[in-house]
Parts: sequence; C-alpha cells; structure tokens
Amino acid sequence: MASNSRGHFSSRFGFILAAAGSAVGLGNVWGFPTQTASNGGGAFLVVYLAMVFLIAFPMLVAELTIGRYGQSNPIASLKSVWTNSRFGAPVLGVIAMIAASMILSFYSILAGWLMGFAIAPLLELFGLSAAAEWLINFSNGRNLLLTLAFSLLTIFVVRKGVANGIEKWSTRLMPVLFVLFAIMIVYIFTQPGAMDGLKMYLVPDFSHLSPSLVVNAMGQAFFSLSLGVGTMMVYGSYLKKDVNIPKTAAQVASIDTAVAFAAGLMILPAMFVAKHNGVEIFNDAGELISSGDLVFTVLPAMFDTMGSAGILLAVGFFILMVIAALTSSISMLEVPVACAQDELKMERGTATFVIGGIILILSVIIALNFGSLFDLVAEISTVYMQPLIGLAFAIIVGWVWNRNKLLQELQQGCPELATSLFWKIWPWYVRIVCPIAIAAIFLVTVI
Ligand code: PFF
Repeated sequence: MASNSRGHFSSRFGFILAAAGSAVGLGNVWGFPTQTASNGGGAFLVVYLAMVFLIAFPMLVAELTIGRYGQSNPIASLKSVWTNSRFGAPVLGVIAMIAASMILSFYSILAGWLMGFAIAPLLELFGLSAAAEWLINFSNGRNLLLTLAFSLLTIFVVRKGVANGIEKWSTRLMPVLFVLFAIMIVYIFTQPGAMDGLKMYLVPDFSHLSPSLVVNAMGQAFFSLSLGVGTMMVYGSYLKKDVNIPKTAAQVASIDTAVAFAAGLMILPAMFVAKHNGVEIFNDAGELISSGDLVFTVLPAMFDTMGSAGILLAVGFFILMVIAALTSSISMLEVPVACAQDELKMERGTATFVIGGIILILSVIIALNFGSLFDLVAEISTVYMQPLIGLAFAIIVGWVWNRNKLLQELQQGCPELATSLFWKIWPWYVRIVCPIAIAAIFLVTVI
C-alpha cells in the first residue's frame, strides 16, 4: 500500500483514546493491583508513579516521535531515523513485531477467560449452571473456544483500519470503561471491610522497598504504557503532523496511570471486602494468594456474597476487563499488520487475517501446553524483550538520530518547543538517564 493512502487518526481526541486504549488493559486492571497488593501496597504505588514519570513517559514521547517522523510501520520508521546501518533497523523492527505478537498470543488466552467470566453469571441467571461452570473452569476446550472468540474480535476491529476500526471502537469503548469503573468503585466503597484495603493501598510502608520492587515497578510501567514493542510507534505514525507530541503523550500517560490508580482503588478494597465475607485472600505465611486467584477466585467469591447486585457487578467487572483487553489487543495486532501491509505490500484485510491467524495458532499452542509455555512466553516477551527493545529505542533517539531532525519533528506540533523546558531536559534525558536506568534495572532482573 502506498504511503499516501495510509490511515490516520481523524482527530487528536481519537488518537488519545486509541493510545490510552492500548495502554489501559489487563496490565492496569489486573497487573497493577496484583503487583501492588503483593509488593506491600502504598510503597509500590509510589515507586510505580515515579517510574511512569521518570522513565516510561520520556520513552513514550520517543516512540511516538520515531513513528510520526517515519509515517510508516515500525520497520520503515526505524530505518528512517537509523540511516547508517543497513540491517540494524529492520532487525530491531522485526524483533519488536515478534514481541508484540508474543504478548498478544498469551494476552488473548487471558482475555478469553475474562469473556467466560463475563458470560457465566448470565448463564447462571437463566439456569444454565453446567454451561456457566464450564466457562469458568480450566479446560482445553474452554481455553481454545474463548481464545478463538477473543482473537476474532481483535481481528474484526483491526481489519477495519485505523479510523474506522481502531479509533472508532476505542472512542466507543473507553468511555464505557470509565463509567463502569466509577460505578464499581463507588459500590465497593460502601461495603464493609473496604477501608482496610484503602489503607493498605494509600498508606505507604517503605519497609517493603527492595530492588525487586523497583524492577517490578519498571516492568509494570513499560507494559502498562505498551512500550518497547512498536505499538506506540505505529500509533504515532497515524498521528497528524500538527499534534503536540509531548503534551499528547503526557495526556495518554496520565489517563493510563489514572486508570491503574482507579483499579487499585477498586481491587484492594474489594480484596478486603472479600476477606470480610470469609474469602481467603492471604496464605498461611500472610502473603497474598497467587495473582490469578485474585481476579478469578477472590473477586467472583466476593460477587457471590452480594446477591443479585453481585451478578450485575460481576458481569460489569468482567465486561470492563474485556473492553480494556480488546483496545489493547488491537494495538498489538496493528504492529505486524502494518509491517506486512507496507513491507510485503499486502492488502489490509488479508494481512489482518493471515497474521491474526498465525498469532491465533501460537495462542493455541500455548493453551495446549499451558503449564510449560504460558509463563515462559509472558516472561520472555515482557521481562526481557520489552526493556531491551525500549533500551534500543532510547539509544536510537538519544545517540543515532540527528538532533535537528528530531527537533524539527517535534516542533511541527509545538512551535515554541526549542525554548521550552521540555527540550532542555528531554533529549539529554533520553540519551543518558533512560538507557542507564533501563540497563541497570534490567541487570538487577537478570542477576
Ligand atoms: N498496555 C497493555 C496493558 O496494560 O494491559 C498491554 C500492552 C498493550 C502491552 C500493547 C504491549 C502492547 F503493545
């Protein structure tokens, strides 16, 4: 497809909702509260906020800027800024594309389960208990069917393109997500036990600080802002030239962080409401029971104790999770689809089906070998690939890309940039601080 017929987000608002849609996902609604609860509550929250502001936000600006400059898929966009190496950019672009596909392959399985949990209470209501049980219990059949269903939803949206698919559905779904969230938080706050959870969340106990807490917080921030896999780069490439990138990135990061914070406001109190209702949430050693249990056992058990309001809440909560997952999964699929469209000259519909199909096969393989593959694929892609690819992006923007071209690109949406505080700090920051911080934190992970 010729570059002049590429899609574009129709408005800055549409872009913000789409990019925030990518960022807001299971990482916010599930990962962040679980990490917070397992890492001592408030202390994790404080370090996480610092990581978002100090590392993830500057990196978000970097990725969006490369994409918008290149006006193409991540492979071509990287080539346009990394001009002195023939193979560097294509190799890095392909690695990023693989990382996005790997994340999507395990993410679709999780999202499928959430669909099952959203439908099950309704089936129960109509007396179809056996079907409801099947949907919420682990089995190959259930995993495969629901993964297929979620993957088809993702393919359906991406097939339609940028403005008519991604932007349209993100603008429809994100407001629903915000409203559902607000209702759930208000409801949970009125329940007995909620205040204990709130205390654990908002009163930091810094005795929990440790290198692993910092590593987890950075990983969470990278995952949450969809960094280091080319997603934000490809979304940036659909951004109009008159958009102020630093400002827009700050808005996207703020929405993402606000939603993670709100998820904590909902889930930590909910855990203690569940505890108050007799549900086990800590093991004998006083540690939080495993993360999967939090969403798939603790919360449903809490909803069960709430009568008919519980059914509504359960459906609402899991629909919220599916929406969050869908606006993220479409952004992951967009990375390889955009590459295939531009680099292999494939038509969008074909590219979406072929690549969506390949990733679905990957999901099926993972689902059928769940015990050995699920954690492995998640760990390789999120713990190793995301920070390392992010590090490479920082080095490219900080050291390889011509500084004047970088300035010109950013100035298009922000004429006063050259004299701004942002421009005094950010280029040096991405050149020195981000690579060192990411590398140091990564080393702690490896060691
Ligand atoms: N940011 C998403 C979340 O928090 O769930 C996950 C994600 C989306 C990671 C898109 C990577 C990506 F490319």
